[in-house]
Amino acid sequence: MFDQVARRYDLVNDLLSLGRTKAWRRQVVSTIAARPGMRILDCAAGTGSSTAPLAAAGANAFASDFSLGMLEAGAQRAPQLSFIAADNLALPFADGTFDVVTISFGLRNVANTDRALREAYRVTAPGGRLVVCEFSHPTLGIFRMIYLRYLMRILPAVAQAFSSNPEAYRYLAESIQAWPNQPALAVALEEAGWQSVSWQNLTGGIVAIHQGMKEM
Ligand SMILES: C[S@@+](CC[C@H](N)C(=O)[O-])C[C@H]1O[C@@H](n2cnc3c(N)ncnc32)[C@H](O)[C@@H]1O
Repeated sequence: MFDQVARRYDLVNDLLSLGRTKAWRRQVVSTIAARPGMRILDCAAGTGSSTAPLAAAGANAFASDFSLGMLEAGAQRAPQLSFIAADNLALPFADGTFDVVTISFGLRNVANTDRALREAYRVTAPGGRLVVCEFSHPTLGIFRMIYLRYLMRILPAVAQAFSSNPEAYRYLAESIQAWPNQPALAVALEEAGWQSVSWQNLTGGIVAIHQGMKEM
């Protein structure tokens, strides 16, 4: 599916998020406190749009994904980034390789959330962190109602007009609704071994950034 939407992925994303994507990515960089010398794995990185701001902050950021279509579109647009073909469920890295593992708008798409969270834990160095940026659930009732209407009606219509694969965006709307809410995702992180788990809501909870620590 991602191979098919790769070419216009970032354009459609910006449209559908009403331009909020850049602000959400800035918040990820700030939560990670990305800095020169930090080794960061951005897994399910797609075209590298989530990796670029980390690299721009000076970190040694690696973009991994298993969709060759997304990696190719990314490598064409941002040849300065390091792209790696890798499955989140079996990462080709030794234990404790990275200071931070991060995943933006990707965990929801991985076939086995628990296994992906455990693999991320394995490749993180003791004292390191996991930072997950993902669509979540607005916390305010009235806002949640308006958002759901957008998700189920407007989003598929925009995707129909601009995307090469509108079906993929119907999947997006449905998968967001089916995704665990903020506390439930925090429990999933804890069950995979992450400690001191916390989250912050962005844009009223449309997106949440969860983080967990790997103890020394
Ligand atoms: C919505 S895109 C997110 C891309 C990027 N992180 C961003 O913020 O724009 C989700 C990505 O997850 C990738 N993905 C899904 N399952 C995966 C897996 N098991 N291993 C690696 N990548 C995976 C897809 O190929 C896709 O590129």
